[in-house]
Amino acid sequence: MHLLINTGGGDAPGLNAVIRAVTLSACRRGFRVTGIHRGYAGLLNEYPRGLIPLTRDSVRGIAELGGTILGTVNRGSPFQYPITDGGPGALSDLSDRLLENFKATGADGLIAVGGDGSLRIAARLMEKGLPVIGVPKTIDNDLAATEVTFGFDTAMSFATEAIGRLHSTAEAHSRVMVVEVMGRYAGWIALYAALAGGANVALLPEIDFDLDRVCASLEHRFETERPFAIVVVAEGAKPCGGSLLVKAEELGKERTLGGMGAFVAEEIARRTGLETRSLVLGHLQRGGSPTPNDRVLAIRYGAAAVRLAAEGRWGQMVSYQPPRMSDVPIIEAIAHQRSVPLDHDAIQTARDLGICLG
Ligand code: F6P
Repeated sequence: MHLLINTGGGDAPGLNAVIRAVTLSACRRGFRVTGIHRGYAGLLNEYPRGLIPLTRDSVRGIAELGGTILGTVNRGSPFQYPITDGGPGALSDLSDRLLENFKATGADGLIAVGGDGSLRIAARLMEKGLPVIGVPKTIDNDLAATEVTFGFDTAMSFATEAIGRLHSTAEAHSRVMVVEVMGRYAGWIALYAALAGGANVALLPEIDFDLDRVCASLEHRFETERPFAIVVVAEGAKPCGGSLLVKAEELGKERTLGGMGAFVAEEIARRTGLETRSLVLGHLQRGGSPTPNDRVLAIRYGAAAVRLAAEGRWGQMVSYQPPRMSDVPIIEAIAHQRSVPLDHDAIQTARDLGICLG
């Protein structure tokens, strides 16, 4: 068997661990593995030089590395592919060319490692006759049909550490520190980091916030508890009756959210007079070495994907349903996004601990 593997969308710590697990478990079965450079570029404008043979040697020691040795793009759908000869921003459907080049490689199928956008592309390629197995990746943890995606633990751990560091400076200056975290339309990173880091306010995309309530809870804390506070704001949070803050919008790419942390900080300062500062953790949450939990999860996903390929179970996505590593149809996995359910015990726990959810 000959397997192709690519990584698509925003990077997430653990991608290299998947690549290593896929390569080692495939090689042990006597399969060949070829990596595709930068999403689908290796099968399109970089074909054939963007096809990278993967061996035991080429994946040695990479499980602990962040990023992806294959490179990735989040504006590289073969159905809306950026082309240079159509003017700036021009996109074209190159999926037929992709299929032709895929056939020319003689590969049996593709292991597509990606988030909802990449898995949506994989499902469309599957319909066109390209056998695919999906591996769920995203720091946002917003994929349905799997309990957790790799990358989330690393991002959440980093955000937790940042909140911990903010405590001492907030306390020293008697300030409100507002920290904006990633997660797109899901509040997993914000909620878990707020719980783990001991934040006082957590604003999530799932619960529109009321600034009066946020300010009242901060004033109450300053007056009756401690004169400093940490506010965690998910980039996808929005005020009651307000809207999301979008930083950039580009054809063929998910819109980029951002700015809500600064907005909340300004409003807190204006309404309460408390000294307030804000910061955005941004891509630091995606960088660096994956946590051991993410490494193990990524390795388990990679090995499970090769088992599915060996059984010819194309069209499935590996899915962690604790305690079992299982699989679901890719179509099912992309049917809806997984935000934090309002009846999730972590939400109740935050309230029990006195964390204001806005
Ligand atoms: O989906 C992962 C993610 O890091 C989101 O949390 C964030 O909104 C987005 O990607 C940022 O994308 P980009 O890398 O294009 O700035």
